[in-house]
Amino acid sequence: MKKMLILLITLIIINLSFFSGCNEEKKIVDTDGDGYEDKFDAFPYDPTEWIDTDNDGIGDNSDDQNDKTSNFIFIEGKGSYSTIQEAINSASINDTIFISKGIYFENINITKSINIMPNSKDFIDMDNEYCAHNYHPIPVVISKANGVWVYDPEGRKYLDCLSAYSSQNTGHCHPEIIAALKEQADTVTLTSRAFHNSLMGPFLKMLAEVVGPHINDKGSGIMSLPMNTGTEAVSTGLKVARAWGYIKKKIPKNEAKIIVCRNNFHGRTITIAGFSSDISAVRYYGNFGPYTPGFIIIPYGDAEELENVILETGPEKIAAFLFEPIQGEAGVNVPPEGFLTRVREICTKYNILMVLDEIQTGFCRTGEFFACDHENVKPDMLLLGKALGGGVYPVSAVVTTKEIVGPDVIKPGTHGSTFGGNPLACAVAMKSIDIHLRENLAERAKEMGIYFIKRLKEVSEKRTKIPIKEIRGKGLLMAIEFTEDARKIVEELKDNGILAKDTHSTTIRFAPPLVITREEIDWAIDVIEKVIIQ
Ligand SMILES: Cc1ncc(COP(=O)(O)O)c(C=O)c1O
Repeated sequence: MKKMLILLITLIIINLSFFSGCNEEKKIVDTDGDGYEDKFDAFPYDPTEWIDTDNDGIGDNSDDQNDKTSNFIFIEGKGSYSTIQEAINSASINDTIFISKGIYFENINITKSINIMPNSKDFIDMDNEYCAHNYHPIPVVISKANGVWVYDPEGRKYLDCLSAYSSQNTGHCHPEIIAALKEQADTVTLTSRAFHNSLMGPFLKMLAEVVGPHINDKGSGIMSLPMNTGTEAVSTGLKVARAWGYIKKKIPKNEAKIIVCRNNFHGRTITIAGFSSDISAVRYYGNFGPYTPGFIIIPYGDAEELENVILETGPEKIAAFLFEPIQGEAGVNVPPEGFLTRVREICTKYNILMVLDEIQTGFCRTGEFFACDHENVKPDMLLLGKALGGGVYPVSAVVTTKEIVGPDVIKPGTHGSTFGGNPLACAVAMKSIDIHLRENLAERAKEMGIYFIKRLKEVSEKRTKIPIKEIRGKGLLMAIEFTEDARKIVEELKDNGILAKDTHSTTIRFAPPLVITREEIDWAIDVIEKVIIQ
């Protein structure tokens, strides 16, 4: 057995040296010089030629099996083969042979250094087989990314207009964030909070200095609680608000109420699902019940109703009002001008914590560092996540004051997370904050957002396939609301090189990385126009 292995390796080496000597030159047409052949490249390759009749994620022009058969074997730029052996015989060194699932490597004599890659369809099939179907993804597989662009295993290029739900503000794989991640990964990654580590203090000090000025600190100083995902930051914020309510506001035990908004999205734990108004998707028709009591739902953007509900319930029983400054998942719902200011006044008047979930809107997304800055309003508590992790690592935090989360409210053992505040997360988050500030991404999002929305409005004036109800947004958090289901439009955008996602079926959100250029927006608008007009 050992001898046979040595013989096979020798054979491969002999063949390697033989083929490296006579490696034939491939003719690559790459007009934009980005390393991708024009025929696999969405920019500036004309995307109308991307026809995919068998829906396997491979454009017909590079798919020799566009006849609804799922099995295929092909080599980029060379064609298709009926057996792997045939493909290997025709391959040059370093060619990639694409094969689909269900083709086996029995009796194959591999004598060359070649790459054998599964294709998009294989990855999608694998997800469907092994992953719970808790999402309904657009049928595209991302295997590489850089800046605003992402690539599938076949090398096709797409403009990312979702940014992992606004987590990729700084652009995919920002070199400085990746360098910080790698450097920290080589040093120390996870200690748990059983011990101190040398990065959490500097990170939370940075949050106090950078985020602190946006908080309603009445002199007690800024203090944070680090977690990992956005949902955890929300859960933590709720616990802190209730504890503050009982300990500081003296709400009678077990009577604390928290007011939230209709169409909110704060995550998907049982408590958070319980106060969602999305009966079908989040509450799942009660299949996740019983839910946590103590939440009151009011209409979004209605400050008058907020005050009415406070008075009806009794202000002395209300710990907090939790809401998003712009409702992202609900379809980019922007509240009426002055809403945040009025909420601040009401919360101050009745000693109720104003808790802002800026997990999606924070870190420059809407054209200000935080969305509350549009009205110069300071909440009592900011919930942060997504872009805080620089698009590479989950990092979230509750940023508030010592009066609210200090040692007389949160004591050892009352809350925790093994990974919260770990050194890797802290290194990445510090770099992410630094880049948002240094690259002036708030200003950039404001300028590019105004331009993107203006161009979308121009397109909407034409006759569209599905009538448009509204175009709205702030900074680079934008949406087109159609009068009917828009999933088909989203899939056509994908086929033409733009990745976006429908929300609540009729609305398509556009939230590209904040580093997008004017030229890239122009290209996106051309594609959007081509897809949505009649
Ligand atoms: C406003 C808001 N809050 C909380 C969350 C939950 O964040 P995560 O998915 O990181 O748990 C989201 C996610 O989309 C969100 O948009």
